[in-house]
Amino acid sequence: MSRVYVFDHPLIQHKLTLIRDKNTGTKEFRELVDEVATLMGYEITRDMPLEETTIETPVCEAKSKVIAGKKVGLIPILRAGLGMVDGILKLIPAAKVGHIGLYRDPETLKPVEYYAKLPTDIEERDLIVIDPMLATGGSAAAAIQALKNRGAKNMKLMCLIAAPEGIKVVQDEHPDVDIFVAAVDECLNDHGYIVPGLGDAGDRLYGTK
Ligand code: PRP
Ligand code: URA
Repeated sequence: MSRVYVFDHPLIQHKLTLIRDKNTGTKEFRELVDEVATLMGYEITRDMPLEETTIETPVCEAKSKVIAGKKVGLIPILRAGLGMVDGILKLIPAAKVGHIGLYRDPETLKPVEYYAKLPTDIEERDLIVIDPMLATGGSAAAAIQALKNRGAKNMKLMCLIAAPEGIKVVQDEHPDVDIFVAAVDECLNDHGYIVPGLGDAGDRLYGTK
């Protein structure tokens, strides 16, 4: 069974409150999502392996630690996942970025894949699948499956807000993928929106309706 980690850092929680507020406009929303992505990126990379290297400080030779050459891939689910990419790239600038395009059919609420462009070596990379919203879980589960079908082996899922329903779907379909979120909300409404949530993440990021 995959594990669920809720990042309860005060800065993440404070910024998430501003993100949820319907009076937060597009510009500020986008900036806040970017900032929270950086803070979550800091937490999610906590288990990166280190190795020792030798350097010379101005004072003497010293042994010190560096990230052990792990290859990372960020996989935003289009569109809304894009809003979190730059925030993580600030911390891991050498990460490669693959894109999976999925939209949720408004009638069936089922995900429809329309785009996939991935690093050629995804099977060697530690992938972070990124989407602000984990609602029914259909999009995330389909994106993870699409990545597995193309050889991906090692994945984490990172979302701003998750509904319990979406967590269950991902855990049932992908017990090997741990889930990292800033909040687990109450439920879904009849339209499959997270309650209380933040509304439509893509529309709020890009000012569409
Ligand atoms: C949103 C969100 C997720 C999906 C979550 O995308 O960004 O990808 O819904 O819902 P689910 O868990 O029920 O699948 P949307 O389909 O609105 O597309 P967009 O990002 O292009 O606006
Ligand atoms: N997609 C969103 O953007 N918001 C939700 O609440 C559910 C799905």
